[in-house]
Amino acid sequence: MTQQLWTSIDDYITQLFVPFDPIMQETLAASEAAGLPSISVAPNEGKLLMLFAQLCGARNILEIGTLGGYSTIWLARGMATGGSLITLEANPRHAEVARLNIARAGFADRVEVRIGPARDTLPQLATEGRSPFDLIFIDADKENYAEYLAWALKLARPGTLIIADNVIREGKVLDPADNDPRVQGARRFNQLLAEEPCVKATAIQTVGGKGHDGMAIAIVTAL
Ligand code: SAH
Ligand code: DHB
Ligand code: MG
Repeated sequence: MTQQLWTSIDDYITQLFVPFDPIMQETLAASEAAGLPSISVAPNEGKLLMLFAQLCGARNILEIGTLGGYSTIWLARGMATGGSLITLEANPRHAEVARLNIARAGFADRVEVRIGPARDTLPQLATEGRSPFDLIFIDADKENYAEYLAWALKLARPGTLIIADNVIREGKVLDPADNDPRVQGARRFNQLLAEEPCVKATAIQTVGGKGHDGMAIAIVTAL
């Protein structure tokens, strides 16, 4: 009953605030047709990412975990004029679908999909002088979120906004004995973020069409 209500309210919010959007619909349809899992952020969360990018006037955005590029396109829509975005994806098949979706959305010239495990591509960004990023969205393998937080801080400046998806995992993060490494990864990330002296951070739960999960939000204060 509760999940049903949350899903209906997600539909209600989406109909109100994220109505007919052919680009986003085609992005999701192409991703599904290619067999990608339906684990993109929800439409209202995607639009929230766009608003966050606008709020911080982001010109240089980093995303870790592209999938079909759905969240990527939302972030790109919120990017300031002249801005650019790099998104990291380990799976070449996902990256290929994302590139097509990003091109259809008109962002091929401003968005780079970089293939490879983030553990390998994050160090490249540092050596290439692509940092500091204004906004960093962490949404790849939950097992390595702690490592991604460390990299996010290395690639940030004071004022950088760091957002992480999937930090609540149906509430499983409450259980220190949960043996799912993805849950442990999210739990450890939350702990590290809360203890991190260089950020001001919080987290919110998310419910609805994508189930019960959450997002953490942090501003880098000093480095
Ligand atoms: N941000 C997307 C969803 C990402 S799903 C959206 O909301 O639209 C998580 C993605 O991370 C998957 O495509 C998966 O292939 C990718 N991924 C998993 N492990 C990774 C790694 N080590 N490095 C980079 N990407 C990884
Ligand atoms: C998974 C990944 C995500 O980014 C998400 O939002 C939901 C689920 C997953 O790997 O299962
Ligand atoms: Mg996610």
